Amino acid sequence: MKPRIVVTRKIPEPALELLREAGQVWLPEPDHLLSTEELHAAVAGADAVVSTLQDRVDGAFADAAGPQLKVVSTIAVGYDNIDVPALHARDVVVTNTPGVLTDATADLAFGLLLSVTRRLGEGERLLRDRKPWQFHLGFLLGTGLQGKTLGIVGLGQIGTAVARRARAFGMDIVYTGRRRAAEDVERELSARYLPLEELLRSSDVVSLHCPLTPQTRHLIDADALASMKPTAFLINTTRGPVVDEEALAEALARGVIAGAGLDVFEKEPEVHPALLELENVALTPHLGSATTETRTAMAVLAARNAVAVLRGEEPPTPVRS
Ligand code: GLV
Ligand code: GLV
Repeated sequence: MKPRIVVTRKIPEPALELLREAGQVWLPEPDHLLSTEELHAAVAGADAVVSTLQDRVDGAFADAAGPQLKVVSTIAVGYDNIDVPALHARDVVVTNTPGVLTDATADLAFGLLLSVTRRLGEGERLLRDRKPWQFHLGFLLGTGLQGKTLGIVGLGQIGTAVARRARAFGMDIVYTGRRRAAEDVERELSARYLPLEELLRSSDVVSLHCPLTPQTRHLIDADALASMKPTAFLINTTRGPVVDEEALAEALARGVIAGAGLDVFEKEPEVHPALLELENVALTPHLGSATTETRTAMAVLAARNAVAVLRGEEPPTPVRS
């Protein structure tokens, strides 16, 4: 019998082709986010599930699928939606898609950084609101990046790619994380390791690139924000709950920090209403990896991961526990 492969959302055709060569593919018709009940019903009897970051994958999910489930392949680098120990305990392989979205996500982080420091959103809103304006020397002044310090929280693949872009803009790099980066990475970026508290105190822009884990939930809370410079900016392109959004909205409103660029939110797709009222915030709706090229590469890698496990082979990018 052909393996049953459940795909929880519409995916690019090249990925679907790979899956169709390997098994019987089920997709929601029409494409929509499955409720927990729909998800559990859909995965029943699945040998492989190709999922997205919106699907809650836990022990109940695995039990709904059944003991034949061999692999859950998420089309994302972050896997905070997956209870990896619960799946590994049931001998289910978990895979994600690191690497292929590094540049797209770093580009978006840098776009938000430029947008908020140069007040691009404010300028655009002014024009679209048909407000009168005139060039003058003090008009909508932003903050320059040259000679400023970028603090990277989590110098993984994406953090490193952001740091490379920042170097090209003339910024100095400091970073923090669970461990020191490789020496050649530190040397290439002239990056200095600092404990989080010192990084927050000394950075002009702080960009978050750590995964969401119990240790990083609300890593940036009211105290962390208070330790940043009042002229500093916060960029978040990882996961919303790494930041206490309520505390951030208050800090931005009170001038505790100068501004923020946010691609992710604590209660996605909701955005804290106070953030929507503030001019000093650049907002995008979780677009980090949203290019045609990157989404295709992510889906193809996810399909290759699923197919490899179904064939009894080692998948290209497994999540280890
Ligand atoms: C997107 O947020 C991802 O984790 O790939
Ligand atoms: C993700 O790919 C990371 O390691 O930053």
